[in-house]
Amino acid sequence: MRNNVHIAKKLLKWYDVNARNLPWRISPIDSQIGIKPNPYHIWLSEIMLQQTTVNVVKPYYESFISKWPTITDIAAAKDEEIMEAWAGLGYYRRARNLIKCAKIVVKDYKGLFPKDEHLLLKLPGVGTYTSAAIRSIGFKKKATVIDGNVARIISRLYVMTKPIALSSKEIKSHADSLVPTKRFGDYAQALMDLGSQICTPRNPKCSNCPINKDCKAFTSGLSNKIPYPVQKKAKQVRYGYAFVTLTKNNNIILERRPADGLLGGMLCFPSSEWRNSQELNFDPPFEADWHVLNESITHVFSHFNLQLKIVHSRINLAPSGYLVMPVKNFNRAALPSLMRKIFDIGVVQSLADLS
Ligand code: ADE
Repeated sequence: MRNNVHIAKKLLKWYDVNARNLPWRISPIDSQIGIKPNPYHIWLSEIMLQQTTVNVVKPYYESFISKWPTITDIAAAKDEEIMEAWAGLGYYRRARNLIKCAKIVVKDYKGLFPKDEHLLLKLPGVGTYTSAAIRSIGFKKKATVIDGNVARIISRLYVMTKPIALSSKEIKSHADSLVPTKRFGDYAQALMDLGSQICTPRNPKCSNCPINKDCKAFTSGLSNKIPYPVQKKAKQVRYGYAFVTLTKNNNIILERRPADGLLGGMLCFPSSEWRNSQELNFDPPFEADWHVLNESITHVFSHFNLQLKIVHSRINLAPSGYLVMPVKNFNRAALPSLMRKIFDIGVVQSLADLS
């Protein structure tokens, strides 16, 4: 393969002027004057950024860092506090792994992330991508960081005629060949910024791209066609009931979902089984005078769409095994997005108004 060093050079030069200002990032200038990244910050941001956009992550990241300034603070926090601070970010397995990972780093590594790839890969929630990001951005070590943005850039640079999911070996080998001999963290972040600002999925801004002359897709007029999409299967829909109940004293009845599975560890309204069929058995979690609302809410998960019909009741006392929270000063932010939608329908508030 031809020596590619000129591509990384152009990218780094572009990054020096165009780097985004992000709360977890050491700017190229600060990096040059020797300010060191904090691997805890990099790990936290990268876990949050898996499957979530930068703009959504920013306030969550800031709030985590101010609540838990070090990984030791995360490891010492109550699981429920972390899950509640994560509420709304989705993909809750990330938060459960974050807690496990923090505890391991504190116990086995005295609160300092290991630098070796094979040790990083053993940590819960840290896969090839995150380990490479921690190594390059957090420790300034040589590593090839490939996320969706980077894969798209490479597929365009080399006009890959197969969808990204079918070209991972080729992408990895090109990506390896592009990594420069220094500034590993800046280079990884330059690619991420290029992917989000210039080499966007649709209508890439090729005329502003610092490496357009090196890009085979650009020089052959194919930028908008590449990467080739995979045929997506239609998403399945699942159905169920969500049970909204208030006690006589205006306490909302909630439950914490079991740690494993979707929304694991999160605070939720009780719900029925989620089934593939619209023919549901009405099997409420406890006895009450239930009323089925016409309204239902829909929520998009990565592998299916969920439609929940809302059912409500008032009861005297909370049955055992449930959590109760006063409606007054209830903080909807403690709920995951799906459950916030149920809260936002207003049924809780109107039940409370009845008393
Ligand atoms: N997406 C994933 N990781 C990122 C990072 N460190 N900076 C910007 N965007 C990202």
